[in-house]
Amino acid sequence: MLRVSTEEKLKKCITGACKMVLVKSIRMGDTVLVTGGTGYIGSHTVVELQQKGYEVIIIDNLSNSYENVVDSIEKITGIRPGFEQIDLCDKLSLDDFFNKHQNITSAIHFAALKAVGESVEKPLLYYYNNITGLINLLICMIKYKVNNLVFSSSCTVYGQPEILPVSEKSPVLKPLSPYGNTKQIAEEIITDTSGKSKIKGILLRYFNPIGAHSSALIGELPIGVPNNLVPFITQTAIGKRECLNVFGNDYNTPDGTCIRDYIHVVDIAKAHVIALERLLSEKNESGIEIFNLGTGKGNSVLEIINTYQKVTCNKLNYRIVPRRPGDIEKIYADTALANNVLGWKAEKTLEDMILSAWNWELSLLNN
Ligand code: NAD
Ligand code: UFG
Repeated sequence: MLRVSTEEKLKKCITGACKMVLVKSIRMGDTVLVTGGTGYIGSHTVVELQQKGYEVIIIDNLSNSYENVVDSIEKITGIRPGFEQIDLCDKLSLDDFFNKHQNITSAIHFAALKAVGESVEKPLLYYYNNITGLINLLICMIKYKVNNLVFSSSCTVYGQPEILPVSEKSPVLKPLSPYGNTKQIAEEIITDTSGKSKIKGILLRYFNPIGAHSSALIGELPIGVPNNLVPFITQTAIGKRECLNVFGNDYNTPDGTCIRDYIHVVDIAKAHVIALERLLSEKNESGIEIFNLGTGKGNSVLEIINTYQKVTCNKLNYRIVPRRPGDIEKIYADTALANNVLGWKAEKTLEDMILSAWNWELSLLNN
């Protein structure tokens, strides 16, 4: 049924009824479930999947995103993805969903709560949502024979590594937050489940995704006060926030501020399509594979601020305040495995990332 609907959607595009995008081939039968697909990274991934010809169905409970993201995805790609508002913790609704959509062959699982600080305040909320949601998803995947899973993990699993850059072989250290712990536990749950089922998984450990789609139709839209650096910078610059607090300049780094590996969200999104294709074409070398997604380059907080000021010619109001509890000093990725085995490489520059984030912030002025 869904195959027909894809053809209809494409026909609509070809007759020019909606904004056209070239879809070279439709991968019949490869319907991909994207959980958390109206969220920040999920929405960019849905765009990349659709532009590669995949049929996509999103599940999201809209706890941290808006349904109109589906409209924006349609504007960019010319194709409206399927969408159902479902909470992954609602086992019965999830089962109904899978029962209804038996042509799903793979899942990309983004849906989770992700604010590190909030997870320290509300650990049970994080363990309940992130772990229950994953378990319910895996139960349905086994029951309905959906055997391919790409999972959003995080470089938080490395804690503060002793050796940099950090590779997939580096030790997984005790997490500094319940959020980080949900990622470690989730990796273990998926690995154990894969060992006892037909599920094959690729666990992608993201470093710091920033930026927005070049259309400025989708981007990061945190609800409430942003926790992350780049949305705080753009919201300060536009006047929504008075001043950016830089958390500490007494770290053991060249300018004293923390170092991270910032990576464009579109590069991250493209890695998901490559990971999915690796699973679908059975090129994976083991039941579970893990890849770092970063650029391999570390930048300090002050370097990010300076890049913002350079690419936008705007001055940013900021001040140095004490360290934020739980922050690690520096981390950046060894990307050799992702480059050589996954066949993926980050392409966009820091300037691209910051400028696209700024264009997205500007576009929100009109909404
Ligand atoms: P996001 O909050 O923008 O997207 C997550 C989406 O999942 C939201 O739309 C939310 O409504 C939905 N969701 C949450 N719980 C749900 C549930 N129980 N049922 C259904 N939907 C639910 O976050 P994001 O930045 O796009 O992150 C996506 C994934 O990547 C998350 O798993 C996150 O932990 C992981 N990650 C993010 C970062 C980052 O810096 N953004 C870094 C590393 C890993
Ligand atoms: N920072 C500030 N001021 C702010 C916000 C952040 O100085 O207002 C600093 C932080 O102290 C840190 C750096 O900017 O040194 C980056 O902080 P973010 O909050 O943007 O990112 P984190 O590295 O703390 O964490 C992010 C996500 C996590 C994810 C992790 C690794 O929030 O969910 O990247 O991928 F797990």
